[in-house]
Amino acid sequence: MYELHVVSEDQFGAAAVDLLRDLAAGACLGLPTGHTPLPVYAELRRLAAAGLLVPGRWRVVMLDDYYGGGEPSFHTWLGKEVITPLAIADDRYLRIPTLPGGFANIAAACDDFESRLRVWGGCDWQLLGLGANGHIGFNEPGSARDSRTRLVTLTAATARANAEYWPQQQPPQLAVTQGIGTILEARRIALLVRGADKAAILAAALQGPITPAVPASFLQLAPALVVVADTAAAARLASL
Ligand code: GLP
Repeated sequence: MYELHVVSEDQFGAAAVDLLRDLAAGACLGLPTGHTPLPVYAELRRLAAAGLLVPGRWRVVMLDDYYGGGEPSFHTWLGKEVITPLAIADDRYLRIPTLPGGFANIAAACDDFESRLRVWGGCDWQLLGLGANGHIGFNEPGSARDSRTRLVTLTAATARANAEYWPQQQPPQLAVTQGIGTILEARRIALLVRGADKAAILAAALQGPITPAVPASFLQLAPALVVVADTAAAARLASL
């Protein structure tokens, strides 16, 4: 089951931020990148600038990033949209590893990310966007229900969809993502979906069979799922 909020495009950011109002200082928030959450982050910045919210007290966890440590990266993107403007201190920000760093390999760096997330007590809220092929984070079709944070190969369609971020070069084929099992451990999940081009995949994710072919369908197993969709994205949902 899920709670559905269908809102107009101009109410989207406020509706999503409303979910976060009861987040205590020290609470842990998982954040996605992409076009979808942009109005949400704009609203967070507006409220913070007006002194109506103090997100700097929250802890923030990344959902996914490209492998290799190059630019542009989701880390830089999230830094500009959220981390810097909302004054999230370095020790309150858990990055997805994009290189092995001090570890033997990227798998060990991913295990370290998972342990740090566990030490933080997991995410109180995980916000998610929805890929055109049903991916969440970079869990592409075929990802397992119990998958953990790991290096993945992107589908050609996803690489193409993200090519706009990489105008001068070949879009990256490799990424690191929280696994579906990792995401499902968040105490609450908010799936954010905007636009008519996501309407069919949103209906498949929420009301179709639970299958690795549509990774977002595993969200039907989440302990507490809230869906915030604009009217165009919600258009194909059968009424419950
Ligand atoms: C990207 C990211 C996801 C994001 C999704 C949707 O590939 N890996 O984390 O949620 O695709 O992006 P958008 O919101 O731009 O449609």
